[in-house]
Amino acid sequence: MISHLLPTYKRQPISFSKGQGSYLYTNDGTAYLDALTGIAVCGLGHCHPRITKAIQQQAQTLVHTSNLYGIDWQEQAGEKLCKVAGMDKVFFANSGAEANEAGLKMARLYASKRGQKQAKVIVMENSFHGRTLLTVSATANPTARAGFFTLDDEFVRVPFGDINAIEQAISDNDDICAVMLEPIQGESGVRTTDNGFEFLTQVRKVCDDNDLLMILDEVQTGNGRTGKYFAYQHTSIKPDILTTAKGLGNGFPVGACMTTGKANDIFGYGSHGSTYGGTPLACRVVCEVIDTIIDENLTENVIKTHDIIKTIIEQNLAKDGVTMRGAGMMIGVVLPTDRNIDFATLVDKARDNHKLLINVAGGNAIRLLPALNLTVEEATDIAGRVVALVKSVL
Ligand SMILES: Cc1ncc(COP(=O)(O)O)c(C=O)c1O
Repeated sequence: MISHLLPTYKRQPISFSKGQGSYLYTNDGTAYLDALTGIAVCGLGHCHPRITKAIQQQAQTLVHTSNLYGIDWQEQAGEKLCKVAGMDKVFFANSGAEANEAGLKMARLYASKRGQKQAKVIVMENSFHGRTLLTVSATANPTARAGFFTLDDEFVRVPFGDINAIEQAISDNDDICAVMLEPIQGESGVRTTDNGFEFLTQVRKVCDDNDLLMILDEVQTGNGRTGKYFAYQHTSIKPDILTTAKGLGNGFPVGACMTTGKANDIFGYGSHGSTYGGTPLACRVVCEVIDTIIDENLTENVIKTHDIIKTIIEQNLAKDGVTMRGAGMMIGVVLPTDRNIDFATLVDKARDNHKLLINVAGGNAIRLLPALNLTVEEATDIAGRVVALVKSVL
């Protein structure tokens, strides 16, 4: 059959017809242990009964009105999300890129309101912020950027984790308005800085000293994934602008751009908008996701199951030069590059030989983004299958 889909994705030769918890099933009933959860989206596992019920009930009641009217579920979702995020205000969008686009537009409006001639944003090497023109310009990945006439004058790129480079960029460039970063860089291979989350505290200080906005992209690290509700909560600082998506809707498309302090008043009537952003249906799902993460104590479970996975993998593979990075249910298993491993076939081998769904990012890192509600048995099983996979290719 000829596919009518534009070839933007190199798809694997498999499709799934059912999902439950940490398992995906093909038509013939074969079960695959999902250590990727739709790329950090289905944090509560597939088809969590509370989310399914919320979708069903809301779909029978009211799906969409318009942001021209009050939306009670949007108010409720805003209150719950700002509470867990420690922020004040929120704009609901439909994806991570849109949430970041809102954050970047906000930074540019902030600059223009205070009379800057240009609004450059400092971003990190190896960053990923989305595929709209502004967010792909903020993104480092050369494949994502190639050919799109990216808005390169609007961004200054520095090494992730290098606070001196940020200070240098501020003194070298006129009209910087913000620093934007991910607490852990997911798409480029679960990259952390040498000083861990302490880097966020350093960035906060530099932003304060230079009156810049700090934009944290927690599209992937948010919603419990790293063992705190948002990753920045591993520190005692707060960003001015915080974006999230992915786990926020557990598969239902929704994103959010939150503000606090001086960022609260940047957008006014007409500054920004979205036909679909914050529908009653999306926001009811957001409320249910947040309540479920809290009711099921999932940030604690994330830390417990992280330790199980890390211990098993290290015990079995450290002697082979395998190292680990990341936090919570965002784990990079970094394989040695001097052992002739065929990284291009690793995902296929995991899927076909071990019935395990993973991803390889950053060239040599197996990326694990399992559900936040993994059982001890599932965590042990994922680690065991990763160990068997890695041993088979070493
Ligand atoms: C950190 C980060 N920001 C932004 C995005 C873009 O999100 P979306 O694909 O929902 O637009 C992603 C997606 O992988 C991401 O990981």
